[in-house]
Amino acid sequence: QWIYLNGEYVTKEEATVSVYDHGFLYGDGIFEGIRIYNGNIFKCKEHLDRLYDSAKSIMLNIPLTYSEMEQALVETIRRNGLKDGYIRLVVSRGPGDLGLDPRRSPKASVIIIVEQLSIYPEEAYIHGLKTVSVSTRRNVPDALNPKIKSLNYLNNILVKIQANLAGVGEAIMLNSQGYVAEGSSDNIFIVKRGTVFTPPCYCGALEGITRAAIIEICQKIGYTVKEEPFTLHDVYVADEVFFTGTAAEVIAVREVDARIIGEGKAGPITTRLLQEFRNIVE
Ligand code: PDD
Repeated sequence: QWIYLNGEYVTKEEATVSVYDHGFLYGDGIFEGIRIYNGNIFKCKEHLDRLYDSAKSIMLNIPLTYSEMEQALVETIRRNGLKDGYIRLVVSRGPGDLGLDPRRSPKASVIIIVEQLSIYPEEAYIHGLKTVSVSTRRNVPDALNPKIKSLNYLNNILVKIQANLAGVGEAIMLNSQGYVAEGSSDNIFIVKRGTVFTPPCYCGALEGITRAAIIEICQKIGYTVKEEPFTLHDVYVADEVFFTGTAAEVIAVREVDARIIGEGKAGPITTRLLQEFRNIVE
């Protein structure tokens, strides 16, 4: 396995960064998770746009131009000989003296890891996931803008820990006003009487690229889709609930806080959207 590390290709064992890297010391950096399907980088432009927007927002200077970054992705995939897989692209503030002033880190670190992906088993897409809502809140709008895909994932990790403790695969995070925001690493959708709903990003959701692809598919095949705030009650009484994300694709939810959703398995609209999504990528 070859890893891109600051312009060089090194083995997994050699791929190390400094303990002074501010990405490590302060979570100062950004990242993207990207899929490779059939040798193609899925939504490459969208991911790079989000990466460069996140960088601009936090005043992080990525030492590669957009097209150099694209080439680095392609070359890392080529060297690893993968047709299908997952890319983790990380840009951290880079090594610098202690102290959180970003001026101490003049050179950002750029890392590209390409791997085989293993997430949910195929049966989970048919039967759906059990989930719970958790007490960890996404603070909007006073905290970090959720549109920035930053290395600060502690909030999400706390959500994951609560999911683990409840013995479920994913959990639902609310924002500080009590509206549903997203999962630990996926966007959430609900379906009620044929209409598809997802929280607007101002509710604390990442502007997910899979989310955008699903909204587009809904519009194309004639499902009404609305970006509207909703509460846990709306989730409990929904006909269908599903998550979307680069790693998870479109995964149904069969239970939320012990309330069975619909028939307790992937519903017809979720199943159709997963099919349509896989038609696009495969
Ligand atoms: N997840 N929300 C959060 C908090 C996320 O971390 C992610 C991505 C999403 C879905 O966004 P997208 O569709 O652009 O992947 C929503 C990880 C990194 C992943 O799925 O790869």
